[in-house]
Amino acid sequence: MEKDQAVVAGRTLTGDSASIHELAQGVLAGAPLAFRVRETLANHELAKTLETLRHSESDTSVLRTLFPESPDTTGVAFLPKDRLLSPEEKTAAAAAFAGVLDSGDFTSGPAVDSFEGALSEFLGAAHTVATGSGTDALIIALRAVGVGPGDQVILPANSFAATENAVFACGAEPVLADVTLPDGNLDPASVEEHITARTTAILPVHLYGRLADMAGLRAVADRHRVSLVEDACQAIGVTGVGQYSDAAALSFNPYKNFGLCGKSGAVITGSAEIAERCRVLSYHGFVPGQKNIKCETFGLNSRIDNTMAAIGLALLPWLSLRALRRACLAKRYIDALSPLARQVPLDVPPFAPDHAWHLFPLVFHEDGLRDTVRTRVSRSSGVETDVYYPVLTHQHETPLREKLFGDVSLPRTEQLNAHVLHLPLHAGMSLGEQDRVIDALHDALRAQT
Ligand SMILES: Cc1ncc(COP(=O)(O)O)c(C=O)c1O
Repeated sequence: MEKDQAVVAGRTLTGDSASIHELAQGVLAGAPLAFRVRETLANHELAKTLETLRHSESDTSVLRTLFPESPDTTGVAFLPKDRLLSPEEKTAAAAAFAGVLDSGDFTSGPAVDSFEGALSEFLGAAHTVATGSGTDALIIALRAVGVGPGDQVILPANSFAATENAVFACGAEPVLADVTLPDGNLDPASVEEHITARTTAILPVHLYGRLADMAGLRAVADRHRVSLVEDACQAIGVTGVGQYSDAAALSFNPYKNFGLCGKSGAVITGSAEIAERCRVLSYHGFVPGQKNIKCETFGLNSRIDNTMAAIGLALLPWLSLRALRRACLAKRYIDALSPLARQVPLDVPPFAPDHAWHLFPLVFHEDGLRDTVRTRVSRSSGVETDVYYPVLTHQHETPLREKLFGDVSLPRTEQLNAHVLHLPLHAGMSLGEQDRVIDALHDALRAQT
């Protein structure tokens, strides 16, 4: 057998979440890292790293090679801004920016098509339309599938405000459905209960990077002849994204798994017609390729800037390597923290293959324990944790709250949100930092029992 076929026999590592999941398990088990990696820009640094490790004479631990050194700091920051990009990534982004500075192609330019092409190739999407943000990608996707004034769109309440705001921006009404536990993703059965004659779309969010039940949601959408648009802003690279829906929105804001140096996003779709409408809607309703000639009443000014697309192309080679780091960190957390569930009622997420590990949630079932643990790990070890969406969509004190959401009751969403805590997990995190978080959590819960 050839050396490069030894582990994932006969299979090529594609770089989607299922293959990264398998690779992370191999890395953590110390298995030999010998297999093929699909040649695509997003896999470039991953392939290079694995090749280097394969030919390395030294017995340096694979894990240590994959992760950065621990920073010279006490405490553990939740998401340190100065480490959103590695030194190598910063150099690549700076070179890309310098190239655009010289060309003057700041807004439109050749990098836009190249970036969209590279994303389509990696994501297995027939069409990619890159936009000015993930929020705009959602608005554009919803409008492109036909959502308009007076329509209803069904979505979860435990997301970033962009999800419901995109619905409002279309002049439509957000209708909130409940989630399944423990994953917190939209429940197809609850969605079906909320369908009315005014429903035109279902908008699931892949919460924290975990794929929602897309087969179940597709079945509901088909039964009621409504569109299905994914908020995949936290889920780039996840196996299944784009496969069941009419369109999916991605975000490349700097805090995302594939974060650029400013706001940007994309719509991916299998439909040439929807892609065409997205292009029109993302640039003033103009006929694609024609200057100042409209074919649509209204459009946004939200094509991705050439500057950001050039930076995107420069950073894309690290995408799968960053995904591998996230998956390894998630597995290490799961292995180290699962025993705590014998001490206190606690949900540790499963190590799922359809997950991008944008966020790592722990759910403490005992009322108040989440906040106690948060305070303890902060005081004892300077470990920063977060509660990402502290207020659910229907509970914000906004002028139309009573009218829109006065009678909304989402027992499972509310139960989850009252107890969930997010731990630090990012592609620049060191193993030493993660060990400090794990130790701090064990200490905090030892004090509890
Ligand atoms: C679930 C979700 N939807 C939408 C967005 C909006 O993306 P952007 O910040 O690129 O507008 C984000 C990220 O901020 C998000 O996490």
